[in-house]
Amino acid sequence: MTSLIELYPEAGTERQLEGLHGQDNVRSRPRGPDGSYVYTGYIASIDGRIALEGSSGAPMATRNDRDWRHFQELMMQADVVLASGRYVRDKTVGGSAQSIVPAADDPSVADLIEARREAGIPLRPALAIVTSKASFDPEVASGLADDVIAVLGEEPDDETRATLEDHGLSVVAAGRNGRVTGDLLVEALGGLGHHVVFSAAGPQVFHTLIPVLDALYLTLAGRLLGGRAYSTLLEGDELEMPPSFDLASAFLDPEGPGESVQLFLEFTRHRS
Ligand SMILES: NC(=O)c1ccc[n+]([C@@H]2O[C@H](COP(=O)([O-])OP(=O)(O)OC[C@H]3O[C@@H](n4cnc5c(N)ncnc54)[C@H](OP(=O)(O)O)[C@@H]3O)[C@@H](O)[C@H]2O)c1
Repeated sequence: MTSLIELYPEAGTERQLEGLHGQDNVRSRPRGPDGSYVYTGYIASIDGRIALEGSSGAPMATRNDRDWRHFQELMMQADVVLASGRYVRDKTVGGSAQSIVPAADDPSVADLIEARREAGIPLRPALAIVTSKASFDPEVASGLADDVIAVLGEEPDDETRATLEDHGLSVVAAGRNGRVTGDLLVEALGGLGHHVVFSAAGPQVFHTLIPVLDALYLTLAGRLLGGRAYSTLLEGDELEMPPSFDLASAFLDPEGPGESVQLFLEFTRHRS
C-alpha cells in the first residue's frame, strides 16, 4: 500500500495509513474538567464543500477508501459517535450516507474491533442522535448500533419517550430553548458512561459542539466541486469568540480521490 508522507511534525517521514493515529491515541489524551474528550472528522473539497445539495454523505467525488479507513480509525476510538436526526431520516429512505458504526463482525475493521476488545470497551461505539424532536423512525434508529441514544433539545412528551424506549433507545434531554447545547450534551453522555465523543454529524451539530470541542480532523481532498447549494463545516450564528487551533499533525496522501492527493490534517484546540 502506498505510504503517506508526514509533513508535520516530522517532515518527510513515510507513514502507513493503517494505524496512522495509533489505536488508542485519542483515548489516552488529557481530558477537560468535565472528563470528556470531544473530536470530529470531516472530508472537504478544496472549495470547502462537505456535502452538495441532494447528496447524502460526503460527495462521491471526495470519497475514497483511504479516507474512509482514516475516519474509521478515529471513530473506533470513541465511546459514542454523534449523528443527526437528519442522518436517521436519510437512512430511512435509503440515502447514500455510509453506515457510521460498523457491524461487530465487519472484517474490514477487525483490527479496530480487536483493539476495542483489548481496551475493555464495547466492541462497537454507541450512537447518539442529536435532534430537536426525534422526528425519525425509531425502528431504523435502533438498528444503527447496539446502544442508541436519542439526545433531544427538550424533554419529550410521554408518548414520544415511550415510543423511543420501546425500541430500545435511551432518551435524554440536553438542551436550552429546544436546542441541544454542547455542555449539556457532554454532561448527559458522561452520565451514561460515554466520555470520548466523536461527531460524525454535519455543520449544525459541529456548531453545537464548539464550546466543548477538543480536536478537529480534516481531510482536504484535492478536488474542486463548485455548486450553488452546499454545506460547509460549520453552520450557525457567527462565533463571538472564534476558537483558535494548533496544527497537531499533517500527512500527504498521494492517493486521493479521482487521482488527486489528499491531506490528513489534525487540529487541536489552542489552550492558553
Ligand atoms: N463530508 C463530511 O465529512 C461530512 C460529515 C458530516 C456530514 N456530512 C454531510 O453534511 C450534510 C448534513 O449532515 P447532518 O445532517 O449531519 O448535519 P447537521 O447540520 O449537523 O444536522 C442537522 C440536523 O441535526 C439536528 N441538530 C443539529 N444541531 C442540533 C441542536 N443543537 N439541537 C437539536 N437538533 C440539532 C437537527 O435534527 P432534527 O431535524 O431531527 O431536529 C438537524 O436537522 C449531509 O449531507 C451529510 O452527509 C458530510
